[in-house]
Amino acid sequence: MKVMMEKQPYKKLFIKTWGCQMNVYDSQRMIDILTPLGYKTTDTPEESDMIILNTCHIREKATHKVFSELGRLKEHKDRKEAKGGKMLLAVAGCVAQAEGDFIMERAPYVDMVFGPQTYHELPEMIIRATGERVINTDFPPDSKFDHLPDASEVKGGTAFLSIQEGCDKFCTFCVVPYTRGSEFSRSINGILDEANKLVKKNAQEIIVLGQNVNAYHGEGPDGKIWSLGDLLRALADIDGIQRLRYTTSHPRDMGEDLIKAHGDTGKLMPSLHLPVQSGADSILKAMNRKHTADHYRKIIADLRQEQPDIALSSDFIVGFPGETDQDFEDTMQLVRDINYAAAYSFTFSPRPGTPAANMQNLVPEHVKNERLQRLQALVNEQQSKFNDRTRGLTLPVLFDRINEETGQLHGRTPYNQSLHAQGNKRLYGQITDVKITESFPNSLGGEILTTETVVKSA
Ligand code: SAM
Ligand code: SF4
Ligand code: F3S
Repeated sequence: MKVMMEKQPYKKLFIKTWGCQMNVYDSQRMIDILTPLGYKTTDTPEESDMIILNTCHIREKATHKVFSELGRLKEHKDRKEAKGGKMLLAVAGCVAQAEGDFIMERAPYVDMVFGPQTYHELPEMIIRATGERVINTDFPPDSKFDHLPDASEVKGGTAFLSIQEGCDKFCTFCVVPYTRGSEFSRSINGILDEANKLVKKNAQEIIVLGQNVNAYHGEGPDGKIWSLGDLLRALADIDGIQRLRYTTSHPRDMGEDLIKAHGDTGKLMPSLHLPVQSGADSILKAMNRKHTADHYRKIIADLRQEQPDIALSSDFIVGFPGETDQDFEDTMQLVRDINYAAAYSFTFSPRPGTPAANMQNLVPEHVKNERLQRLQALVNEQQSKFNDRTRGLTLPVLFDRINEETGQLHGRTPYNQSLHAQGNKRLYGQITDVKITESFPNSLGGEILTTETVVKSA
């Protein structure tokens, strides 16, 4: 007798992600865990069966933002449940880790709260959440990486690969050591295995991630401790990988070997994000960065010796407690000396529980804002000039996105500039030569040079 199996409808999963690339990676891994349980992602929260807010706690109003989002989502949940449906509402990520108990208390309609180190337990948490509210913010003794399934897909030819978690640096302004826990490096075998699987799913580019990625020191197959430089060289040996990048780095861990890798590892792209935060030694000291501005200049000089072409970017905090006009001028001078291709700058935001939140000599808001504008104007000018200099060049671009409305392809140059061009959709996820024809402050425009367009225009 033939038994007709009824096809189960899939469950809708809505994930909203804030914060750094580590959170983007974590959200993707949550999808990988939930896909075998019958979940499929959706772009709208209304009728979802499960909603996950993957949160970031790095700057002010983080908790506030989560609560206002939760307030809106509660209405969808109430509406669905009034009709007899069920919607699981979960808060994940760094706000969940830092403020888990508070969220449980203030938002009784939230079903699950879990941190960045426990999301691999999602299947068990979902079962538990049918009978009780679940909070899971411990730092478990075993690593989540030992339990995660393979990545379900690679989008646009590029993939994040997390190799290191947590941070032991304790910069005085930063919440990350508290939300992500202490530094932990995955084993080389585990990373290479994941990289090989990503390549089979068409990854052309791998971006290795860590809060302090260059502090990486994982166990190699030879039983010895391997550095990030060793790992990058091993990744470059994998056929199919065309491009490698790594982020985010700390100047103190820019060792000689890693700097050398920029000269001898062709697949390592000529771009580096190396946050410095300030150009004033007294502020760097108060931030507990444990290096000077000149040490940073020396690292950049050494990098440029190995890879003269390297495009540099950085993060800056302006208005740290005690920052004088002269300290700020020192930051401006450092920016002039380095000449960045891009930079992200923020005004200092006191974070509860961090040492800098209790520091004296606060810089008034209007001074912070005025300094931020001056710094951003300088950086924007440098970025525009950098983009202008690439006009007329032909560069290989990895097209990792299609704009469905305009049909345009969007991608990245080796220098990590974003670029758009008209082209055939088949180039999505591929690396193609593009002639740069336009430059804007934040992006480039180009013409794709494939055989067919060359023949057409000849
Ligand atoms: N690990 C990286 C490093 O060592 O520079 C940075 C990680 S953090 C996720 C990204 C950036 O957020 C920092 O580089 C810093 O510029 C900024 N940031 C962190 N805490 C901040 C705070 N309390 N106020 C303003 N900006 C902050
Ligand atoms: Fe935060 Fe400093 Fe660690 Fe970077 S190195 S994550 S800024 S504590
Ligand atoms: Fe934010 Fe956590 Fe990343 S605080 S920046 S999501 S490590």
